[in-house]
Amino acid sequence: MKDSEKSIIIETHELTKSFGGLVALNNVNLRIPKGELRAIIGPNGAGKSTLLNTITGRLTPTSGEIYFLGEKITGLPPHEIARRGIALSLQIVQVFPNLSVFDNIWLGVKMRFKTRNPFIHWRQLKVIEEKVIEICKKIGLENKIDEIASNLSHGDQRLLDIAIALSTNPKLLLLDEPLAGLSVKERRHVSNLIKELSQEKTIILIEHDIDAVMRLADRITVLDRGRVIAEGTPREISEDRQVQEVYIGSRE
Ligand SMILES: Nc1ncnc2c1ncn2[C@@H]1O[C@H](COP(=O)(O)OP(=O)(O)O)[C@@H](O)[C@H]1O
Ligand SMILES: [Mg+2]
Repeated sequence: MKDSEKSIIIETHELTKSFGGLVALNNVNLRIPKGELRAIIGPNGAGKSTLLNTITGRLTPTSGEIYFLGEKITGLPPHEIARRGIALSLQIVQVFPNLSVFDNIWLGVKMRFKTRNPFIHWRQLKVIEEKVIEICKKIGLENKIDEIASNLSHGDQRLLDIAIALSTNPKLLLLDEPLAGLSVKERRHVSNLIKELSQEKTIILIEHDIDAVMRLADRITVLDRGRVIAEGTPREISEDRQVQEVYIGSRE
């Protein structure tokens, strides 16, 4: 294996997903190096969520391959892909509304200590509890640790959703529109958090807020009708004629 190969965390090869006659992903080739924050942008229906759903195994690709850390993961079940180190935080917040912040994160962290034994040793419980508190602090929810999830503001629920994604200690974090529906202040908080997380994790970020994307991303991939139409640094993408046309076109 070449050195340049080693540093690729996720790669898709001619990835295609059709829904009946509709080709949502059309021969998508991605290569994302470890540590990068890659934004995926494109108009509604471009295939962005479908891309994340095929990477996590929620959807099976029609053809093509996905490699994670050099190993083929195409067609593996979602729990196996999660176990290998890929976590997804969705457009729609997926927390247990009746559980506290602590318990929501606890469930995720406990998965890491999966044993055949239904009883967890008290020492492990202690470790799990410390992890939960560490994640709460990182995410900025330490003052709301006992709050019931459904009582949290929309922004805090989004933070909790990201915390749950982090609870399995993923190597690759996928974020599907984490800023959607948030207030200006909440957006600032969540984008600062994403920036901070990008220091230690590889992140694929889908986001409509183009200013946030330009600020956060190392590189940007542009999808349109299932195809990659451009890829480059934020500056290269903002100067790309075809991208400008797609964006202006989608606004009309
Ligand atoms: N489960 C599904 N069944 C049928 N069509 C789907 C399904 N999921 C997505 N699509 C279609 O695939 C295309 C891409 O959708 P999606 O990946 O959600 O786009 P984006 O996230 O970029 O807005 C859209 O035309 C959408 O209607
Ligand atoms: Mg989407």
